[in-house]
Amino acid sequence: MHAGQEPDPSTGAIIVPIYQTSTYVQEALGQHKGYEYARTQNPTRAALEANIAAIEGGKAGFAFASGMAAEGAIMTLLKSGDHVVVTDNTYGGTYRLFEQVLRKYQLDFSYVDTSDTGAIEAAMRPETRMLFLETPTNPVLRITDLRRACDIAHAHNAFVVVDNTFASPYIQRPIEFGADLVVHSTTKFLNGHSDSIGGVVVAVRDAHIEWLRFVQNAEGAILGPMDAWLVLRGTKTLPIRMERHNENGMALAQFLAAHPKVAQVHYPGLPDHPHHELPRRQMRGFGGVISFRLGSFEKARTLLNSVQLMALAESLGGVETLISHPATMTHASVPAEQRQRIGVTDDLVRVSVGIEDIEDLRDDLAQALDRV
Ligand SMILES: Cc1ncc(COP(=O)(O)O)c(C=O)c1O
Repeated sequence: MHAGQEPDPSTGAIIVPIYQTSTYVQEALGQHKGYEYARTQNPTRAALEANIAAIEGGKAGFAFASGMAAEGAIMTLLKSGDHVVVTDNTYGGTYRLFEQVLRKYQLDFSYVDTSDTGAIEAAMRPETRMLFLETPTNPVLRITDLRRACDIAHAHNAFVVVDNTFASPYIQRPIEFGADLVVHSTTKFLNGHSDSIGGVVVAVRDAHIEWLRFVQNAEGAILGPMDAWLVLRGTKTLPIRMERHNENGMALAQFLAAHPKVAQVHYPGLPDHPHHELPRRQMRGFGGVISFRLGSFEKARTLLNSVQLMALAESLGGVETLISHPATMTHASVPAEQRQRIGVTDDLVRVSVGIEDIEDLRDDLAQALDRV
């Protein structure tokens, strides 16, 4: 709640103001208060960066215009010829950035099921510089053993990036397990209110911090002050929101698992989840994202068109429940054959469970399933 935030020095305002300014007046040539130009420094953004760095247990944070901009900045730590091992069912936009943008700059990527740490070890090459993990994955919620994965990468002289968007730092703090960098789409749980697009990188190593500070200014894809303020307001209620996402997520997963029209439910809190024990070791709760299969695209479409309280929309992590069809929405940029391989089948539906009354959510899904 408090990290990174001091009462405003000029007024005592308890909330860090939105410093909506592009520049700062200097007292005399060469004399200023540490702020020269707002691409380089902004007090609202600085408060958010310090806040999220503290929540993740890192040394410094850097806020960007989107989660993808944050990932783009991280990738500038690499140089042509470097190789990256990536979780195979990573977010579709991450895959698109790596395959359609960064391959042009002679970076190479191998996509492996990182929930199998043997597969990580097997994919390592002498030129592997980075292990890029997403856990739990989107949308089938596979879990990677963070400690073992970090140990393998470090033994091969590679550093580890964890996309912690799905869990949020309330549920999982990858730096405690050895991660070198954590990236978030703050658009999701950190902001929590579906009213801002943003991203943040948290770093621990001095060389990374120095480069990210430089590249944030050099490329300039910064988070604006209004968005920084919105995310800062969001992080104040992160723990109580996440507790409720955990509770509602579990209750809805159990409801779906017992429903005769549901073929399969992916949720790390269910006993039949393939990595049921691991999340108990590295996560505090199982989060608010569930996906489930209905047996056919037609059935999925009927359900998606029948919900009334849940909103049919991309994205996740807000206080309101969103429902989506990964194959045609978030994962449309992943080739069909790869979608099949990672479990993003045409009958799969994803729910980002919000913090509404659980009875209302169950009733909505029940009436929509009746129409399937
Ligand atoms: C896991 C994950 N990482 C990164 C991103 C990209 O974030 P943004 O949309 O803020 O650019 C998303 C967006 O959905 C995501 O789900």
